[in-house]
Amino acid sequence: MFILLDVLVIAIAVLSSYWIAGRRQSRHLPPGPSGLPVLGNALQIPRGREHLAFVEMGRSVGSDIVALKIPGQTFLVLNSHEAISDLLGQAADGWSGNVTLANNTPRFRTCRKLMRKGLGPSAVRSFAPFLQRQNPFLLAALVRSPDSYDEVFKRATGRISMKIAYGYHGVEADEELFDLAVEANRCFDETAVFGVWMVDLFPALKHIPSWFPGAEFKRYAARAHAVVTNVVNKPFDAVKEHMREGTADGSYSSMLLQSEQGNADTEDCIKWTAGSIFTGQMNTTTATLSWFLPAMALHPDVQMKAQISDRDALPYVTAVVREVLRWHPVVDLIPRATAHDDEYRGFFIPAKTAVIANVWAVLRDESVYPQADRFILERFLEHGARAPTDAAFGFGRRICPGILIADESVFLSIASMLATLDISKAKDAAGRAVEPVVEGLRELSKTFQGVYRAPLEGRCGSHTPVC
Ligand code: HEM
Repeated sequence: MFILLDVLVIAIAVLSSYWIAGRRQSRHLPPGPSGLPVLGNALQIPRGREHLAFVEMGRSVGSDIVALKIPGQTFLVLNSHEAISDLLGQAADGWSGNVTLANNTPRFRTCRKLMRKGLGPSAVRSFAPFLQRQNPFLLAALVRSPDSYDEVFKRATGRISMKIAYGYHGVEADEELFDLAVEANRCFDETAVFGVWMVDLFPALKHIPSWFPGAEFKRYAARAHAVVTNVVNKPFDAVKEHMREGTADGSYSSMLLQSEQGNADTEDCIKWTAGSIFTGQMNTTTATLSWFLPAMALHPDVQMKAQISDRDALPYVTAVVREVLRWHPVVDLIPRATAHDDEYRGFFIPAKTAVIANVWAVLRDESVYPQADRFILERFLEHGARAPTDAAFGFGRRICPGILIADESVFLSIASMLATLDISKAKDAAGRAVEPVVEGLRELSKTFQGVYRAPLEGRCGSHTPVC
């Protein structure tokens, strides 16, 4: 009975959207796979490994921009740096590239301004000593917990998030808050997967009531909303309390609350952006550091060169960081939406098109990064390949506002791991090396099997925390 109702609801949504959208979609869209009558490409929307499926679709239609049509919605997949910069990059008007993007509201601009201020160069300088002090804890924990390094990285980055966003000194100070942030990130991971809910494909479904069969997405959203609201409100209220008591430590929130002295809207923006810093920083930095370990276990030559002490380590470590960000970008697809009807390369881009920037395609582009699946530092050190930062951290006006802090903290962590640890493939009971499995992006929150860390020989001493 429920299944029948599900089918009925979807059918009504499909037909109504189809009727509304039918005429506009007949204009000359970019190329795409041919779809079915009424359903369009609905059955071709990939469910899993979308970044690879989109690259394949681009190849099959011979274009770096691919349109997918479903009733009521057009998706535009961008598989090249050129198309992404043209459409989503920052143009002279300071907002967007060739098309006008949705969400350019006054509140959005205020929030971005606050993040630029609160995470800019002077903030990086003020947080740098704290970031440096974290590495001994990280190194010691990595050696102590040989089986779970994603948990170690999560704790280390959680500690940094809490300090930067709210001035907390240690994750131990609020275990409950840390768990809430992990839970909020889990909700985000589950919902950020493209096409995971039917409503992503058929927006008309958003009008069905939450008790209706097939409306699990609404019930899930209500549960996730409660988690997110809690993780945003709780620490922010604590900062305000600490500020009143004169005990607040330096943080994004306290600095902006003090300097802005704004109205309730500004304060609300500070609160929500602090929340997105708190949760956004944790998974991305954890995933980046997590990819570094199998990269070193799989490429001992790279690790060895980085450990030779008499070379100028700085450009080398910088190249390692770049290659980690390129080799396995932690955010593979970035969504945007267009605001108005537009045109690009002579093609029609309807208003409200969901534009998907395929970061993976850009960073695995063989014409820019030959042998793209291999970890090769010389592409940056000797051949001047384009730095991966403008794709790995997003694009245009919405580029990651924490890029400077990320750069500093990832560099410090990787430099200290290279200086003190010997990273290698783990051995099984019979003493054979276990190959680290690095397939698939969405598994990044799981611990990779088969990476072993030990203190680097000759680096032990009273000053090293890893021995
Ligand atoms: C290696 C580490 C990191 C990576 C790879 C990364 C990557 C990204 C990406 C791809 C986006 C989406 C950008 C877009 O939509 O165009 C993003 C957004 C964001 N990142 Fe990062 N990030 C990292 C670290 C950080 C850090 C350290 C912070 C804060 C201290 C931070 C704060 C944020 C925030 C607040 C957003 C949302 C911005 C918005 O919605 O406008 N990130 N990040």
